[in-house]
Amino acid sequence: MSIVDKIIRNNIRDLVPYSSARDEYSGNDAIFLDANENPFFTGVNRYPDPNQAKLKVKIAQLNNISYERVFLGNGSDEAIDLLIRAFCEPGIDNVVSVRPTYGMYKVLANINNVEYRDILLKEDYQIDKEALLKLADLNSTLLFLSSPNNPTSNSFYHEDIVYILENFEGIVVLDEAYIDFSSERSFMDSLDNYPNLVILKTFSKAWGMAGIRLGMAFASREIIAILHKIKYPYNINKLTINFALQKLDEPEEKDKWVKLILEQRNILNLALMKLKLVKEILPSDANFLMVRFVNARDVYNYLIERKIILRDRSKIELCEGCLRVTVGTETENKTLLKTLQEYES
Ligand SMILES: Cc1ncc(COP(=O)(O)O)c(C=O)c1O
Repeated sequence: MSIVDKIIRNNIRDLVPYSSARDEYSGNDAIFLDANENPFFTGVNRYPDPNQAKLKVKIAQLNNISYERVFLGNGSDEAIDLLIRAFCEPGIDNVVSVRPTYGMYKVLANINNVEYRDILLKEDYQIDKEALLKLADLNSTLLFLSSPNNPTSNSFYHEDIVYILENFEGIVVLDEAYIDFSSERSFMDSLDNYPNLVILKTFSKAWGMAGIRLGMAFASREIIAILHKIKYPYNINKLTINFALQKLDEPEEKDKWVKLILEQRNILNLALMKLKLVKEILPSDANFLMVRFVNARDVYNYLIERKIILRDRSKIELCEGCLRVTVGTETENKTLLKTLQEYES
């Protein structure tokens, strides 16, 4: 029995999915009188492809993986939600993770009435892997890890993730939203070795497309087929598909942005460290810096009054006194630094 057979909810296993008009006939040159659409051309009068075939083929090629192992969602948040709905029986199963981490794992578990268990990261922001595995029981079906982690900005040790993959008896969801900014290698090449691994990626960060809401999940054919079975029929709209298709033809643009952001991360890091009001900056593997200030709340308010918005993470465990600074353009970063210098003087 595969791991998926073991943990899939019975109602999902037995579900007869909705079959949309575009599922039943997907050809091009025809008179389409099957989907109750408006026949007059607007550019978007037809439903989008429920399989997102063209986009998936391109994404599959870019990621060197087969088309059937790609799921596309309304942001990676949709994939997180569907994974919980597919594999966690409300009121019975639970998911495990670490804290602090990306808040949507807990929120989506809560929305689905699924117990959320987490353990604090260690002082060095790494995972206490034995404690994490101990937190799990027979009803722990999913384990979420974001590496690089939001908000701590570090990557978890590769060998710790391997250990968890080899010892957790459910599905490990590894969120690589920030992997383009990381010095660590992705787990994409390890997907074949771990049938219990799901990797999440997003177009919201390095690709510069947060506004179109497009996220990806990569996993075994079996897991992807389940996500596909339970998603909304037309979960990715036509505007998003077309925009992404166009941008995917210019991957060098993304690479250029990543290079610029990494350069700026370095410059910003060095300049911030010179300020007296900065106590510490956590080592970052992402497109943001967690900066520990002498007086975080005061700095936060001072910056807001000057229309510079940071994320206040100062009340979060292990991030006490920290503000999260997304790396901006050179001009934005210079303005931030200048404003902080003015605060100091
Ligand atoms: C770790 C992590 N995963 C996922 C997301 C959200 O991705 P998406 O925009 O694709 O829903 C974020 C957003 O901040 C994030 O920090």
